[in-house]
Amino acid sequence: MENSQAALLMLAFLLFLKGSSTLVVKPVTDPVIGEVGDTVTLEIKPPGALAAISWVSPTSITVVSLTGSTPVIGPGYENRVTLDTSTGSVELRSVNRKDAGVYVFDGITIVSGIRESFKGNITLNVSALVLKPVTDPVISKDGDNVTLEIRPPGALTAMTWTFSPTGITVVSWSRSAPVIGTGYVNRVTLNTTTGSLGLSSVNGSDSGVYLFRGKTAVSGNPEDIDGNVTLEVYEPITNVKVEPNPAQPIANQTLKLACLVLGSQIVSSRLWLKDGQPLDSSDRITVSVNSSVVSFNKVLQSDNGDYQCKANGPVNEVTSAVYRLEVNYGPEQASLTGPDKAALNSSVTFTCSAQSVPACIYIWYVNGIQTAQGSQYQIDAVSNVDTGSYMCMAWNSVTRRTSIAEKKLVLFSVTGKEGPILSAGEITGVVIGTLAGVTGIALGVYFSVKLCRKNPDDPKLGPAERSLDAVTWPNASETYENIATDQTASKAKKQDHAYTDLQSPDQSTYSTLNE
Ligand SMILES: *[C@@H]1O[C@H](CO)[C@@H](O)[C@H](O)[C@H]1NC(C)=O
Repeated sequence: MENSQAALLMLAFLLFLKGSSTLVVKPVTDPVIGEVGDTVTLEIKPPGALAAISWVSPTSITVVSLTGSTPVIGPGYENRVTLDTSTGSVELRSVNRKDAGVYVFDGITIVSGIRESFKGNITLNVSALVLKPVTDPVISKDGDNVTLEIRPPGALTAMTWTFSPTGITVVSWSRSAPVIGTGYVNRVTLNTTTGSLGLSSVNGSDSGVYLFRGKTAVSGNPEDIDGNVTLEVYEPITNVKVEPNPAQPIANQTLKLACLVLGSQIVSSRLWLKDGQPLDSSDRITVSVNSSVVSFNKVLQSDNGDYQCKANGPVNEVTSAVYRLEVNYGPEQASLTGPDKAALNSSVTFTCSAQSVPACIYIWYVNGIQTAQGSQYQIDAVSNVDTGSYMCMAWNSVTRRTSIAEKKLVLFSVTGKEGPILSAGEITGVVIGTLAGVTGIALGVYFSVKLCRKNPDDPKLGPAERSLDAVTWPNASETYENIATDQTASKAKKQDHAYTDLQSPDQSTYSTLNE
């Protein structure tokens, strides 16, 4: 009974085989497109397990066949064909234009233990070679040695490079020694294996498009190659500088820091650093769109620190030297220390101090008469003429501000009675003298201002004159300050002018300011 069942099944199978046609397998991709030199795969996925296959080329050559366990590679395909023995797909390397056409395959697969034959075809298109350079564009800086590198497939037999802006043939080679073009002797090399062009000591005039054209043999088949490479030669950034305006920044006034880039025509970006960290901008500290200028509105002592500008060009990056910002301010809160009373013939020292950058100058007035300069005022042996008003004026030559402190000195009487030994009439005299002293101080200040002023052509009287009007004069030990608004404004205007001048002399090197 079992035997008859088996016989029936066999019969049914034979009938099935007789009636079934060969399976047509569709390729995974059709057509397959490659460029000269490419590796392509003619991919199929027949059902079941592959038992046998054979591929026939467009020129009716058997590319590869498999009947046993080892594939047999056909003539002309040695070393460039691999058969995938599980699917029957074929990898074809270094294709050339003669490889193009219809490839026919047929084989046997085993589905559920049953052998089935299959067949199909696949078209290979091979497009002409457009060779891409290894790097394009090639970016370099003045004086560099550069290589315009290409990697054509196959064995190179000829190569010519032409500089398109001038049409000059840089180098031409065809089996014999390369011929170097006019103007390129001693600075050109041709790698005859790859066809790459070497140029030494390039400069701006070497910038442009280089065309190449050559011959190679891919899988024994001659192929033309051509393409182009762009060379860009840039001047490097040689120096970066931070330029303050005004040169001497003053607290609560505007300050601009400019980033000057020298050398390169092109600045891709700038970065401001304070104490080595990227500068934080705010409502008060603003950075221009291209970062060439930082504006402080207004500058404060808290802005003190080391400022740098880092500039990036196409070929290099340079960080400026440190600009150390120290905001000038003061004098603030002048104070006068010393005794209120002194014994006859004793020695007395008054000291004046005020907060100020730069250090201020101290001018002493005794009873309204300018007497000395320096932070200390000393009397070796006090006498009656030394009594009265002592005033020190602190003067900052950069901020053009002053601060005043005053106190009175009286004598101890021998009998122990204190106070100035003055009659009512004498007191009136002192008051008059003091008032006269006001004029004296004004004149004194005027001369001091002239001595300290950096622009002696400035005809304006120093601010001290105005401030003295406001002084409530007889109150001793009070501090008076004033702000030299007009003078600093005129000074700033002058420096603005100088700053503008700075931009014009060489637009190419100071390119940053023009943006
Ligand atoms: C040509 O280029 C190849 C690949 O970069 C390199 O290995 C070879 O040394 C070069 N030949 C010469 C003569 O420079």
